[in-house]
Amino acid sequence: MKDVTIDRIGEHVGETVTIHGWLHNRRSSGKIHFLVVRDGTGFLQVVMGRNDVPEETFKAADHLSQETSIIVTGAVRADHRARGGYELTASALEVVGPAQDYPITPKEHGVDYLMDRRHLWIRSERQTAILKVRHEVIDAVRDYFNSNGFILADTPIFTPAACEGTTTLFPVQYFDDTTAFLTQSGQLYNEANAMALGKVYCFGPTFRAEKSKTRRHLTEFWMVETEMAYADLDDVIALAEGLLTAIVARVLDKRKNELTLLERDTTKLESVKPPFPRITYDEAARILIDKGLPFQHGTDLGGTDETVLSQRFDRPVAVTHYPAAVKAFYMKPDPERPDRALCVDVLAPEGYGEIIGGGQRLDDYDLLVQRIKEHNLPMEAFEWYLDLRRFGTVPHGGFGMGVERCVTWICGLEHVRETIPYPRMLYRLYP
Ligand code: 4AD
Ligand code: MG
Repeated sequence: MKDVTIDRIGEHVGETVTIHGWLHNRRSSGKIHFLVVRDGTGFLQVVMGRNDVPEETFKAADHLSQETSIIVTGAVRADHRARGGYELTASALEVVGPAQDYPITPKEHGVDYLMDRRHLWIRSERQTAILKVRHEVIDAVRDYFNSNGFILADTPIFTPAACEGTTTLFPVQYFDDTTAFLTQSGQLYNEANAMALGKVYCFGPTFRAEKSKTRRHLTEFWMVETEMAYADLDDVIALAEGLLTAIVARVLDKRKNELTLLERDTTKLESVKPPFPRITYDEAARILIDKGLPFQHGTDLGGTDETVLSQRFDRPVAVTHYPAAVKAFYMKPDPERPDRALCVDVLAPEGYGEIIGGGQRLDDYDLLVQRIKEHNLPMEAFEWYLDLRRFGTVPHGGFGMGVERCVTWICGLEHVRETIPYPRMLYRLYP
């Protein structure tokens, strides 16, 4: 008897195999038990006839409760009517661990109820499908950078100062008399790494103490950030386009089944091909004002604004040249219009909004010093960062992509909270 996983059961038609999993569902017709077993790789129907197994096994199977861990042995049969196309005719069953009154039953539960039991909820078919898409997105990201000459250089999580603005920092006691902050972005270190290695990326958790209670905000999220030396805004947009195209193509290729289970309309993803449309902030503002939205020209785009803009396009749209005043201190001003920044936000289509933020960095020493002062940031904390402008400064740029926002869009979900195993939000720190 061979140990196999459900995803590869099709390679063993006609053989007797053993699977290790949990009971997902069960129904009986008196003479036959139908057990749906899951093992993490998939779901499989096991058919147990009264005459196929010893009497006590057949009796025991009639009392198995949901999520009991079981080891099942049986013959693999191809059956186009079965889910996944295969079935197992059981010849033996062993109970490993019982499960009494599993709290998540096939009936409908509210989101809060499920979130309180997130450690169990992730066993469901829908949640495992989402987490597999997440895995694929991350794998595609790594593959894309690794095969295009980028070096992985991770950046610290404990940091001495803000990158994206001081209001959203989580402080941490760092030994006796120092306060450290959980990183909001690895960008500043990524810039230093790019000056050492040329093209780099970092990939890790980032933290924002934003008291935002929206469907797009987590307090802890995973961000992949990239930075290139000798690059301008066009290079940054081209890279974002290449990355998103590669991610979507990869998920469509490898995770069709998961997308189908999630009832995702994949034709919408198939149109994600370069070139992506590009509009300036001023053009975006005009669209919003013409539509009658209460948008104030000169302010940052809000969630609703992004939703409205990104519904107009069938693929991600790059919005460039925001007012420098609404963006971070490190943005390079447009030489032709210094009140505009050489920045880009990429908005996912179908109303999903911003998934990428980045741009060209301020590479001039004097102007950078001025910006740090204007933003009331502590100069001492940025001395090392200023060194990058003191010692061989070059035009450079990059961006950050939030993994959860990207997965939310690709899966076609309502909320980012289902795209990470244990979401951290304003009112959610458990489990
Ligand atoms: O636009 P942001 O704030 O950009 C930066 O942090 C830059 N320093 C990145 C860089 O240029 N290296 O964040 C980048 C992306 C957003 O587009 C979004 O996808 C995601 O990070 N993001 C969040 N995702 C979930 N919850 C939040 N609270 C997020 N804030 C940003
Ligand atoms: Mg942003």
